[in-house]
Amino acid sequence: MRYLLIIHSLLAINALVSCADSSCPSFTDYSSVPHNPLSSGAHKIPYMRPPPNCRTFTNPTIEKVVKDVTSVINDPDWRQLFTNTFTNTLDTTVAWHEPTKYDPYTFLVTGDITAQWIRDSANQIIPYIPYASEDINIAKLILGLVNMQSEELADYPFGNAFQPPSRSGLAPTDNGIAVNLFVSPPFNNNTVFEAKFEIDSFASFFQLSTLYWKATGDASFTKSKPWMQAVRNILATTKRLQEPTYKPNKFVNRPLVEYSRLTYTATETQFGGGMGNPVKYTGMVKTLFRPSDDATIFPFLVPANAFLAVELANLGQMFSALGTNLDIANEANSRAKEIRQGVLQFGTLMHPKYGRIFAYETDGYGSALVMDDANGPSLLSLPYLGFIDAEDPLYQNTRSLILSLDDNPWYFAGPYIHGIGSPHTGFTKVWPMAIIMRGLTSNNYTEVKECLELVKTTTSGLGLMHESVSVTKPEDYTRSWFAWCNSLASQFVIDALSRFPGII
Ligand SMILES: *[C@@H]1O[C@H](CO)[C@@H](O)[C@H](O)[C@H]1NC(C)=O
Ligand SMILES: *[C@@H]1O[C@H](CO)[C@@H](O)[C@H](O)[C@H]1NC(C)=O
Repeated sequence: MRYLLIIHSLLAINALVSCADSSCPSFTDYSSVPHNPLSSGAHKIPYMRPPPNCRTFTNPTIEKVVKDVTSVINDPDWRQLFTNTFTNTLDTTVAWHEPTKYDPYTFLVTGDITAQWIRDSANQIIPYIPYASEDINIAKLILGLVNMQSEELADYPFGNAFQPPSRSGLAPTDNGIAVNLFVSPPFNNNTVFEAKFEIDSFASFFQLSTLYWKATGDASFTKSKPWMQAVRNILATTKRLQEPTYKPNKFVNRPLVEYSRLTYTATETQFGGGMGNPVKYTGMVKTLFRPSDDATIFPFLVPANAFLAVELANLGQMFSALGTNLDIANEANSRAKEIRQGVLQFGTLMHPKYGRIFAYETDGYGSALVMDDANGPSLLSLPYLGFIDAEDPLYQNTRSLILSLDDNPWYFAGPYIHGIGSPHTGFTKVWPMAIIMRGLTSNNYTEVKECLELVKTTTSGLGLMHESVSVTKPEDYTRSWFAWCNSLASQFVIDALSRFPGII
């Protein structure tokens, strides 16, 4: 239904976009049933690209990548699964794209909800960045997303997901939580879809900007007002959120952001009347929500801080290389150092069985949460994010714990699949995203191969990645249309083939 609405307004508003016609089904519905032809492998993976006239962005370079990569895959199931997943973001989520030369805009929906998440949209587009230098239309699509995110974070840096801009002609979606919701600073629900403060959104914005620049050499976006405003907002916000909860004499230092809501789901609101649990100064930055959009228990979310440290340093490096904005580069570099040191000094604990490990969350008082959540940034993903070497003992100890059925409370196993889940989806579901991340962070051929096998079993016969899948009933899943994980699966295939040719 939502998909149909997007398509209709696209036709009406923007003739520049090659877009689907009105007979196209909602992709939420389309992805809930298998389509022919099925692959000839044991998993009979269906072909899940929408018909050509229903695709939201088409590009010959991308079609060539599909041909080239599938030509070196022997496994017919993975040939089909790669085809489905690599193209999913372009085929189905480019809800609005204005491909002007200097100032393009791209609004990428997350999948089944007509809103753009900062983190999801960056991850959705990352697999196409390597082709930006050879194809101007891909470059414009990515730069369009940088510009869109800039506009969003310049306007309201405390949100995790945003509405389409009014000039797109797309209608804002009511997320149904406006009643009894208290958010500070206040937001406009015509521009912000969800106002959950998540520091990994900041890191994702820097990651997208610097990866685009590295791939193309194009730094023109750094001269745009909204981009610079977004950067300034992020630096100011992170500085404020390093502050402890109490001033001298235990006066409460009210944080810059607060979020509280009337709900029966504990993870949908925050402690302390929306302020979060108390913290001491550590150098890390407080966050109210996790990348799962669930509330943090202790405000220093370690993997999100690690990711932010990496990306602040990347921002600093970009400015140093460009020789511009050196004041901002200095601030980004020192913030990166403070956060990294905070993570290493206060974000670990001594575990009786595993030795020194990273905590998932902590507070500077010595409290620490021992777990990992499938959503990235996760502890499992730390080497993928560039924070630590995969062979580092601190990471290896942590990895042993988070991949343990007994010792990570959110690890589940059943007859078909096993892996990390999330409080977001309850006690029996595993996230394909974490199986993929396990493979992306392993140098062990057998383990990578096992992850590739496991991923194939998680599609519930529907040929695309889901958010989560039950370990006892593989047909029981959440989200038939989850673009971020499709992009990540295709990235895993390209990565695995480059490291272990012939692995599939
Ligand atoms: C915005 O919030 C108001 C209530 O304050 C609600 O009536 C309206 O539907 C919301 N609009 C959107 C697009 O969420
Ligand atoms: C590689 O992974 C396999 C499967 O997970 C495991 O059994 C084996 O011990 C690992 N090898 C090394 C050297 O870690």
